[in-house]
Amino acid sequence: MATGFSRRDLGKLVGAAALVSAVGAPSGAARKNGIGRTAGEAQFPNGFHWGVATSAYQIEGAHDADGKGRSIWDTYAHTPGKIRNGHTGDRAAEHYRLYKRDVALMKRIGVTAYRFSISWPRIFPEGRGPPNLKGLDFYNRLVDELRAAGIEPFATLYHWDLPQVLQDRYGGWQSREVPKAFAEYSGYVARNLSDRVRHFVTLNETRSFVDLGHRGVDVLVQGNPARIEHAPGLKLDLAALNQVRHHAVMGHGMSVQAIRAMGRTGTKAGPAEALYAAVPAINTPEHVSAAEMATRELNAAFLTVVLEGRYTDSYLTDAGRNAPRYTDEDLRIIASPVDFIGLNVYAPRVYVLASDSPPGYRKVPNNASHPKMLSPWHILGPEVMYWAPRQLHSIWKVKEIYITENGCAASDQIAADGKVYDSDRIMYLRNGMTHLQRATAESIPVKGNFVWSAMDNFEWAEGYNARFGMVYVDFETQERIPKLSTHWYREAALRNAVV
Ligand code: FCB
Repeated sequence: MATGFSRRDLGKLVGAAALVSAVGAPSGAARKNGIGRTAGEAQFPNGFHWGVATSAYQIEGAHDADGKGRSIWDTYAHTPGKIRNGHTGDRAAEHYRLYKRDVALMKRIGVTAYRFSISWPRIFPEGRGPPNLKGLDFYNRLVDELRAAGIEPFATLYHWDLPQVLQDRYGGWQSREVPKAFAEYSGYVARNLSDRVRHFVTLNETRSFVDLGHRGVDVLVQGNPARIEHAPGLKLDLAALNQVRHHAVMGHGMSVQAIRAMGRTGTKAGPAEALYAAVPAINTPEHVSAAEMATRELNAAFLTVVLEGRYTDSYLTDAGRNAPRYTDEDLRIIASPVDFIGLNVYAPRVYVLASDSPPGYRKVPNNASHPKMLSPWHILGPEVMYWAPRQLHSIWKVKEIYITENGCAASDQIAADGKVYDSDRIMYLRNGMTHLQRATAESIPVKGNFVWSAMDNFEWAEGYNARFGMVYVDFETQERIPKLSTHWYREAALRNAVV
């Protein structure tokens, strides 16, 4: 943490106003009064959250500490050949041990909210049954530390680390027992933390953990076919996969109900989904409405059913005999009213144009020269930060939206002067936030943004080879080095504006 940018560097790099801000985290009052604003800055609404995000398995380490049970990610990462370079999350960023230091750093960066996830097997080593109080205690301490630092905690209940026993006993999300167990765990956490945590995220990216973990997804990497797989590493047929998707969205709905039943009045619940956003290639009414149609269909088994309480006709027709089996009661559970929707936004899924023939839109192939960020899947299209929330609002009238993840991997290196100059990350964040600001200026109710990630971490099948953090982590020494982007973010948070 020592080698970050000093106040003097900041003065040189981003102007004298930075010296004022370096005194500490921006206070609510300072933000409201607009201290440090300059004319022409694109402002966000008052109270907008400038957050950062992480997840338990990716940063905590301490994989077997204090009575924690094993998760499917512990098992999977220890299976030879599954993770690049054989990396595991056993140690990760040792956040379980270093959380105080990490929270202090967040405060210095000036973030106003932190989205973290709770490790289910830390609290229920057996998946259900008696809780492990030492596991709960970690999150109690973390939440207290955050509140003392003036940082609003947003707790995700499931960021993919299912207790291994539930996989072994029931086949994981293939069974209707797992949504039930998830609701029990959700209720327990809400009962214990909702006096200090106001926002609970149910499932993180249902599509990702279901599809990557239960079948695998084929992608093109630099023109070559590749396959991405995640824990538990199953290869189900389409019918079984659709059933797992159905059980997962049921888990979301049952979790919402459990949070309502067990949490304090006013506790908010919602999912964080990687919406497959279709972006209009041309911003005119016909293409804009074609893109909305496409987005609704592309998310039929995920956000669409959550927000509409039914599967679209074309999803059911296309799935045919592979469609999930369900009851009307299931649909009512899935569509339990939520308080907010979290969107994890990295890239447009597809650009579309209107079409006269069904389904009313057509996909535009991505040109080979379309610019990309470092990750091979990460095409650059910052306008998705405008279109994704706008579509949520226009298609489903969602009234509270958070960007629960936005960020990029970069080839971050420690320079000769000991600093990390992540210029491409600043470019990426600035462009995304510019488009997000446009959404808020049009009264689309986006209440906050969470950069993925607060620190470098274990990037699933990529291991430690993809650095997404605004803080550099030396995984040997556990030293933290705030990258240049933390200084950009601090200035933006202080002014509540794109800088
Ligand atoms: C999202 C995941 C998060 C991280 C980022 C890069 O899909 O939710 O854990 O891996 O991608």
